[in-house]
Amino acid sequence: MMERTMRLNDWDGYWGLRVAECPCDVHFVEWLEENAITGKTIFHFGSGGHHYVGIRCAEPELNNAVLSINASSPDYDAFMKLAKEQPELLHSYTCYFGDIYTTNAKLLPRFDVVTLFHSCEFRSEKNDAYGALTDLEVMELFVDQLDPGGHVLFYTGSFAFETAKPVIAALEKSRPVEKVGLFKTLLVYRKKA
Ligand SMILES: C[S@@+](CC[C@H](N)C(=O)[O-])C[C@H]1O[C@@H](n2cnc3c(N)ncnc32)[C@H](O)[C@@H]1O
Repeated sequence: MMERTMRLNDWDGYWGLRVAECPCDVHFVEWLEENAITGKTIFHFGSGGHHYVGIRCAEPELNNAVLSINASSPDYDAFMKLAKEQPELLHSYTCYFGDIYTTNAKLLPRFDVVTLFHSCEFRSEKNDAYGALTDLEVMELFVDQLDPGGHVLFYTGSFAFETAKPVIAALEKSRPVEKVGLFKTLLVYRKKA
């Protein structure tokens, strides 16, 4: 039998809520609150081990359904612990372990809001080894899953934001999106009707 050399490009470690260093998830919930976005369906790239977005969106004031992804065993273990201890959360929040760069649209619902805060942070030649999507392909796929008028948000504080900028510019050309503007550290786009 041939020895397998390829391996998932997963993320090694637990990410707790570090608002001073990485405020994107907190800013996202503030954006939802300020824009009174409730009762919507959200995809969130990078749950962290804190699962802040899923937990806050389950509160009755927000009441948004959230599907999030992470690629780290500790972050996913934290979700399983949360699910066991607070099963009521599962009515509106679920999280799966995987590589966003292997996303298949046939497995996804439609979304009203998509966060792609960690675009260009984690993808490398390790993802190429298993035919993973590019960052632009991931952006296009998730914009295609958005209903018209839906929003896609990026994080200007990301260490990879300079790399993401030309990819977002390419997305503006390939998909019907328009820039809404900045909200704190977040760059907000809307899908045209
Ligand atoms: C730096 S943490 C940030 C978490 C959270 N958004 C925050 O700002 O506090 C990055 C998150 O992205 C997840 N991640 C890393 N690579 C990924 C990939 N290829 N696909 C999906 N999630 C990934 C990690 O597991 C982790 O939850």
